[in-house]
Amino acid sequence: MNPSDMTGDRHLLLAGAQNPRRANDTDALSLARLLSAAFLADPVFDWIARPGRRRAEVMEEFFFWLLKTRAIPFGEVWASEGVVAVWIPPDAPASPGGVLEQLRLLPLFLRLCGLPRFLRGSAMGEAMEKNHPKDEHFYLGFIAVAPRLQGMGLGAAMLEANLKRIDARGIPAYLENSNPKNTRLYERLGFVARRNIAPHGAPPMIAMWRNARVL
Ligand SMILES: CC(C)(COP(=O)(O)OP(=O)(O)OC[C@H]1O[C@@H](n2cnc3c(N)ncnc32)[C@H](O)[C@@H]1OP(=O)(O)O)[C@@H](O)C(=O)NCCC(=O)NCCS
Repeated sequence: MNPSDMTGDRHLLLAGAQNPRRANDTDALSLARLLSAAFLADPVFDWIARPGRRRAEVMEEFFFWLLKTRAIPFGEVWASEGVVAVWIPPDAPASPGGVLEQLRLLPLFLRLCGLPRFLRGSAMGEAMEKNHPKDEHFYLGFIAVAPRLQGMGLGAAMLEANLKRIDARGIPAYLENSNPKNTRLYERLGFVARRNIAPHGAPPMIAMWRNARVL
């Protein structure tokens, strides 16, 4: 590909990320693949997920379940070519907990973590739940750019578009940053670090809050 083609491609990809579309059920599989590829080298996933050649496949299975049941139905999963942002809106119903639901999910979490790392996964999940803010907010569950497209401004463009809509509703936003490489990006967008919520022995997981900007 010659350099002018690449510039044209980047331009199109950026335009897509600036005007993302709302994902629906038919996107779940391709978006799960994208999330799995992007989070394969994430420090927190690396701590929780069972190492080995099946890791990417099981992470894909985990993201597929999450998108289908805990994200896409609430209408705030946004996508463009090579980019996905998984937001949970403030009016989303609390996750259907209960012993039965936990039992149903047990095989998936065992496949993801393996027995030796199962307690790590539970400790991280508990820490995230315990520290989740009570004030009304949009929650950025995951943001991912395909590995070959990272560092081109696509993640920032998608988040700016998402935050513009959130600002228009006057609602704050919250995320947990699982990779110190991302801190400057989130700070540039107005997120402020609150505290490290990671359980003992885990890589940092930094809770970050952003007040709505007055437009
Ligand atoms: C984090 C992520 C969504 C950012 O999107 P992006 O399109 O790569 O980033 P942009 O080009 O818009 O912005 C660049 C900023 O992103 C951050 N960044 C994180 N990972 C990066 C990477 N692999 N390449 C380049 N920048 C990266 C840096 O803070 C960079 O800012 P800097 O130039 O001041 O160092 C993307 O890199 C990604 O999918 N990473 C893997 C999954 C992940 O970490 N998700 C977020 C978990 S909290």
